Amino acid sequence: MNKILFTPLILAASLVSTGLAAAEKPKNAAPVPAEMQQMMKTYSPALRQKVMALSPELKVTIQQLHAQHMRRAKETTLRQVMHEITADYQAIAVALATDNAELASEAARRLANHRIPKGGLLAYFPLDKVNDNDLGVLPAMNEIVEGSALKLADAADAGDLPKAASYMSDIMTGCVACHQKFRGTPGISANLMTPLSK
Ligand code: HEC
Repeated sequence: MNKILFTPLILAASLVSTGLAAAEKPKNAAPVPAEMQQMMKTYSPALRQKVMALSPELKVTIQQLHAQHMRRAKETTLRQVMHEITADYQAIAVALATDNAELASEAARRLANHRIPKGGLLAYFPLDKVNDNDLGVLPAMNEIVEGSALKLADAADAGDLPKAASYMSDIMTGCVACHQKFRGTPGISANLMTPLSK
């Protein structure tokens, strides 16, 4: 199906089911959007409790962030998805370095429409970051990473490779910002006795 038509359909469907879910719940409980309800069935009690406590607005925001992505993983974890988007980012770099506007555009759109990992993003965040305050930065992170990737793709489609190249640092600024907030140091060893220097 046409991707442009499909996005509003998913959103409309999720809004309708959100309304239905809301009708079945006591008035003061925040409604949980449909796809998130499915994901929550797979969550540990501790994570489920954290997600239930999020504001209605943030639940809808997270649902929308998921809905903007067409591809759903069956088993792929967030870490594996991160490697996929790293590969896409590198493909864009190769494309720009070789004047290949078509690959630059294609890889940038694939990066923006990355797979949603099994269980959704929240399942992989540290539990103490699953709250309104910390997760509130997600739309901004999304905009700088994926918004810039889409702008890069548009510039590449228009044949403006210098402009396309200028978005590379915006994208990486977003990657780094999100990691500073939600990721520890990758691959630290439990068998090292010396504390980390930072
Ligand atoms: C929404 C926040 C967020 C954004 C945006 C984000 N990441 Fe990540 N990234 C994470 C989290 C959380 C992890 C840790 C996942 C884990 O280990 O389960 C991670 C881990 C990684 C890893 C380490 C994987 C490993 O083997 O430990 C790489 C590489 C990575 N991200 C690349 C990127 C790149 C490239 C971008 C930008 C194009 C990006 N990420 C954008 C949240 C983000």
